[in-house]
Amino acid sequence: MTSPIVTVDRLSIDTRSAQRDIRLIDGVSFDLYRGEMVGLVGESGSGKSLTGSALAALLPTGVERSGGRVLVNGREVDDSAKTCPDDVAMIFQNPMTSLNPSLRVGDQIAEAIRLRHRGMSRRESRRRAVDVLDRVEMNRPAERARQYPFEFSGGMRQRAMIGIAIAREPQVLVADEPTTALDVTVQKNILDLIDTLRTEMGLAVLLISHDLAVVSERSDRMMVMYAGQLVETGSTEPMLGAPMHPYLEGLLRCVPERAAESGELRPLPGQVLSLADAGPGCRFAARCELCTPECMAAPVPLDTMSGGRQVRCIRPNEPVGAGGPPLVSNSAQPEVGGV
Ligand SMILES: Nc1ncnc2c1ncn2[C@@H]1O[C@H](COP(=O)(O)OP(=O)(O)OP(=O)(O)O)[C@@H](O)[C@H]1O
Ligand code: SF4
Ligand SMILES: [Mg+2]
Repeated sequence: MTSPIVTVDRLSIDTRSAQRDIRLIDGVSFDLYRGEMVGLVGESGSGKSLTGSALAALLPTGVERSGGRVLVNGREVDDSAKTCPDDVAMIFQNPMTSLNPSLRVGDQIAEAIRLRHRGMSRRESRRRAVDVLDRVEMNRPAERARQYPFEFSGGMRQRAMIGIAIAREPQVLVADEPTTALDVTVQKNILDLIDTLRTEMGLAVLLISHDLAVVSERSDRMMVMYAGQLVETGSTEPMLGAPMHPYLEGLLRCVPERAAESGELRPLPGQVLSLADAGPGCRFAARCELCTPECMAAPVPLDTMSGGRQVRCIRPNEPVGAGGPPLVSNSAQPEVGGV
């Protein structure tokens, strides 16, 4: 059996305030293998970006790893280095966070190439930068290489950012909401490009999105995150066909195409739990129609089911919304809201 390129083992991330520490990421574990696309999905504030940033040693200021390990090709990622490990590249929603507005695009890619191939001449790295722009399917790459980011459209900037990322010849690509700011047609083209690079370069891709439709279309495997914890993981198709966690079931009910088929579009009630108010039990309890007092009494483990599916729920696979009120009044739950 092949070994994973990335191993995340019981990762925890905290933020410290004068009053107390708040656990933002709580015991997250997963592997990524060569050539696969794994989706990480969840509502805003669920912890997707922090998890992705931990792979690239790019945790923001104000938070720190409080437990667990992140290994890339067997080497531990060093948070204190604050620079992305050689084998990992990360792209973001807003390409301008990665592009330097005052440098020609070709020179920025050439710089990334020289980081990988120290000692390479500027002339050679500039020549290769044009090849990279061609590889990310930029039209007239030699001309584009001489332009500045402000001369590019949103989609072209995203291609340029992907170019900078792959110029370092990574084995792992963390794509954090790479298409959220783009219109639908451009979105598809960029996702197609990431998919092509995954196949050609054998990249392991962690595709982060709040959009379940995007993740489910593109990923081999999916991880659903809620309030800093993984709540359901597994192969994409069976998860879409038969969700086991009420949160995933609720997210699926919000996908317009599926709702049109079933005739039922029911938004998830409430908001993501305030992590400052997290009690000992299930973090989804306040929004769950299946909640019982037992759900709130103690931490709910992430159990492994048949086929390798993992689910964090004591009533997995029970139909939600079969009628009747929740078994426990939501008013008995902690307040909701952002941290
Ligand atoms: N630098 C920081 N300092 C303190 N708290 C933070 C920091 N960055 C993120 N958080 C908190 O950590 C939690 C997870 O944030 P994260 O950015 O990972 O969420 P997300 O799932 O990526 O959300 P979105 O879909 O909005 O991008 C949130 O509650 C957020 O407020
Ligand atoms: S553990 Fe209980 S509250 Fe949590 S998702 Fe499952 S049924 Fe709902
Ligand atoms: Mg995010």
